[in-house]
This record gives sequence, structure tokens and C-alpha cells, in this order.
Amino acid sequence: MKKIYFTTPIYYVNASPHLGHAYTTLIVDIVSRFYKLINYEVFFLTGTDEHGDKIQKAAKEKGKDPKVFVDEISFIFKKTWDYFNISYNKFIRTTSKEHKKVVQFILQKLYEKGEIYLDEYEGLYCYGCERFLTNKELDKMGRCKDHKIQPELIKEKNYFFNLDKYRSWLKEYIEKNDLIYPGFYKDEVLNMLEEELPPLCISRPKERLSWGIELPFDTNYVTYVWFDALINYLSGIGYPENPEWEKWWENVHHFIAKDILRPHAIYWPIMLKAMDIPIYKKLFVHGYWLVNHFKMSKTLGNIIDPIDIAERFGKDQLRYFLLREMAFGYDAEFSLTNFIIRINADLANDYGNLIYRTLNLVEKYFESKVPSLGDLQPEDIELLESVKIALKDYEFFFLNFQFYKALEKLWEAIRKTNVYIDRTSPWSEVKKGDFIRAGTILRVLLESMKSFAIALYPLMPETSKILLENLSIEAKDILWEKVFHFDLLKEGTPIKKGKPLYPRIEKISYINLGAIP
Ligand code: MSP
Repeated sequence: MKKIYFTTPIYYVNASPHLGHAYTTLIVDIVSRFYKLINYEVFFLTGTDEHGDKIQKAAKEKGKDPKVFVDEISFIFKKTWDYFNISYNKFIRTTSKEHKKVVQFILQKLYEKGEIYLDEYEGLYCYGCERFLTNKELDKMGRCKDHKIQPELIKEKNYFFNLDKYRSWLKEYIEKNDLIYPGFYKDEVLNMLEEELPPLCISRPKERLSWGIELPFDTNYVTYVWFDALINYLSGIGYPENPEWEKWWENVHHFIAKDILRPHAIYWPIMLKAMDIPIYKKLFVHGYWLVNHFKMSKTLGNIIDPIDIAERFGKDQLRYFLLREMAFGYDAEFSLTNFIIRINADLANDYGNLIYRTLNLVEKYFESKVPSLGDLQPEDIELLESVKIALKDYEFFFLNFQFYKALEKLWEAIRKTNVYIDRTSPWSEVKKGDFIRAGTILRVLLESMKSFAIALYPLMPETSKILLENLSIEAKDILWEKVFHFDLLKEGTPIKKGKPLYPRIEKISYINLGAIP
């Protein structure tokens, strides 16, 4: 079995998770599940980033000891991912013993190699980004473009890592390798590499910040944010002690949003190079979920709680919307109006109706048992052919991270299948007494539906599981290759109609959502 390793960013624990965090985690969950469907062995790492000023400050504001505070928030992240049935293999915490040990091991190694040195540096520091900014990263008012806050001028003796030494190597590496997706982020990184890279400050004196991992070679300092955080991708798979780590590392893919492009596309490959560890396979960068045209943030008060949405409208509905509505790499607007229109049109109308109508007819005319497949007519062959093509397109676009296109293709086939019901009208065949023809039509419908349900399993696992169980599909048959088998169901097997899986969202259920547009 081929192995593949996926990661989400590890999230700061200064506040509870919101829809933006949930998006990255859900995307990685969906992609992981898809790779399992196509027979990969998957390792999925997520976790929390728990050191630094931001977190120390947040704990202080709440009057809590940092350790108590990070335990609480990290637990909320974990519970949130458990609520969403996220299929992660490991949840890494940067305050864990195992992680700290690896960070210190790497720091010592790089120090001995002469990569880390003590120096005095003066620069503009953004507490939102938790790093020094270059001039290009400031807006006209001299604020951080991302956080819209004034960076602080900091002059301090600290340990540094010389990034610029590796600049031309990295430029060449990125130019030659397909490292960053979508391509326009690759161009953005190459553009960043045109400018000299300021040294990366990797420490803080303990008197200013105590909430961090102590430098093994100087106990007056703790290491700082990015140097600590990025290493989770290695500590999370047991580097360096567990030999298994290398097998996963060979095929590692990181998912992030564009806010942390620079640390992942510049600091991280350079750190890996300095440690003689192969560079990751790919960095997937998505855009922001905006609410009222702005990135969700606590200060703007436009945060959306993913559990709130899932509780009201369904977990699978939320997963579907997020994947369908955002073109990977670009920003997308989250609004309830869009959400409801999308769910009602695609899930309640197109897919939900197809399921309900078909199961209804099988119940009515065939006592809810799988009918036999008679001779196929040209209209049946035509439909199955277009379903097959749509599934191939779906697979292609899915594996190329063009999720909305993948879904568009699948939905074209779902709509065609709905038209097929009307065109073939199995009820008229029943009226004529031709049960063999009526049965064949319904069987073609059931087989198409099961292919849709398997294809959508990674995306909507809860509802797809129910549908596949209702169709008596065995768990061992939930595999990508089975979507092309149009005789998977067993004649005479009982099937269940069940409750509608994708009910229409009626106005009444979203009337009280207050600030959310
Ligand atoms: N702790 C660092 C990451 C270290 S990774 C080695 C960090 N944490 S964070 O809590 O700020 O999370 C940032 C990530 O959360 C983004 O890269 C993205 O995955 C997700 N998102 C946060 N807000 C988002 C949106 N509004 N829209 C989409 N994704 C968002 O940075």
C-alpha cells in the first residue's frame, strides 16, 4: 500500500476554533478519506501551537496560568475535531514532552553546525504574525497588511538563524520543483525571494517571555514560535527515534491558508535543508473565508462557529458547502443566504430528490427489494456512460484539488439521472405491466446512486454511510474502483427508504442567527 502523510497547521490556542480553522481541517479530512478510498495508507496530523507571547497574553487576560489555559483551549480544539469525526491519526501539542524533546534535539544539532548564532537585531515585529516583517509586508500606514496592527520596533539580543544564506538555493529549488499549489502562490514566494531575507529570530530572553521551550545551549532563552511550531510536522510522526517517520516523510503534504505562506514556503524548507532532511512534497495553500467581505476575526466580530452551523443544518451539509463554494487558493464569502441556496438546490433538490424518488419507487413497485437488471436499452447505456465519465472527471479534479469543479461534474450526472427518471418513467412501465423494464430502470438508478454515494463518501461520510447501508452495500465495497461497477447490488436484497437525508432548509430554522449575513 502506498503511504501518504497530510498535515493541517497547528492552531494557536489563544481562542476557540472558528470556521476558518475548521475549513483547513475538514479539507484535510476529506482529502485523507479520498486517498483511503483509492487504497492509500494515510497519516493525518493536526494539533495545537501553544507557546509564545500571544498565548501568554491571552492566558493573563483570563487570569489563568498558561498551562491551565492551553490545556483548556487545546481540549476545545480536540473536541471540535472529534465532533466533526475528523479522521486524524495524531493530535500533537507543542507543550508535550515528546515535541519539546525534538525541538531541543534539532536546536542543538543546528547550533553545533553553526547555523544558529547570537546577535542584536532591530526590526518591526508583528504580534499577529509572531515574526519580524519586511517592508513589503507593511501597508501605506506602516501596519501589518494582514493584521492591520502597527508592528512594534524591537531591539534585542537574540539567537538567529541565517535564512539568506539559503536564498538562492531555495529559489532554484522552487523554480525546478512543483512544490507549491496553486501556482500563483509559487510566484508570490519567488517574488519574496527577490528580496534579501532578514535573519529568523528564533529566541526570546526568558525575562520577557517564559512560556516557551528552553534553548538547550543557553538556558537564559526560550525558542520562539515558528522554530517550535514547524517542527511539529516531524515530532508528530516520531522523528528522530521512531524509524517509521521516514516512511511517512517521503510523501508529506502540508495544507495551510495564505496567512502562513512565508513560514511554510521559506523558513520550513530552509530549516529542513539545514537539518539535511528532504523537503516536503507539496504545500497546498488556500484562501480566506470572508464574512461581510473581511477575513473572520475576533476583533471584527465576524467569527462563525462551525458547530453552530453543523448543529442547525448538518455536518455533511457544511462539508459540502465549504468544498463546493471555495475555489481552492482563492478567497470565498460565507453567507447564510448562499449556504441555504446551495444546500437546497444541490442537496435537497438534485441529490436528495434522486434518492428519495428512486427509493420510493422501489418500495412501491418492488417491495423495497433490489430489482433484477434486464436488457439495457440505449437510454440506460447512455446514462451509465455519462455517469462513468462524470466519475472519472470527479476523480481527476478531486486529485488536482479543484474540488468545486469535481462536484460540478458529479452534479451534472446527478441532474442527468433525475432527467432519466422522468424520461424513462418507470411508473408507466408498471402501468403497462412491464415489470422487467421498470425493474431495469430502477436498478440503473440504484446502481448510479450507489456510485454517487461512494464517490461522495469522503466528503459527506455520515449521510453517505446511511445511504450505502440502506442500499445494503457492504463496508468492504466502499472503494473507489467499485464506483464503475454497475452490478454491485444484489438482486432481491432488501433496501431501506429511510428518512430524507438532505431535507430542505426552511426559513424558520435560520431566522435567529443575528449578525451572520
Ligand atoms: N500556529 C500557527 C500555525 C503553525 S503551523 C506550523 C497559526 N495558527 S492559527 O491559529 O492562526 O491558524 C492559521 C490557520 O487557520 C490558517 O493557515 C488556516 O489554515 C486557518 N484559518 C484561520 N482563519 C481562516 C480563514 N478566515 N479562512 C480560511 N482559513 C483560516 O497560524
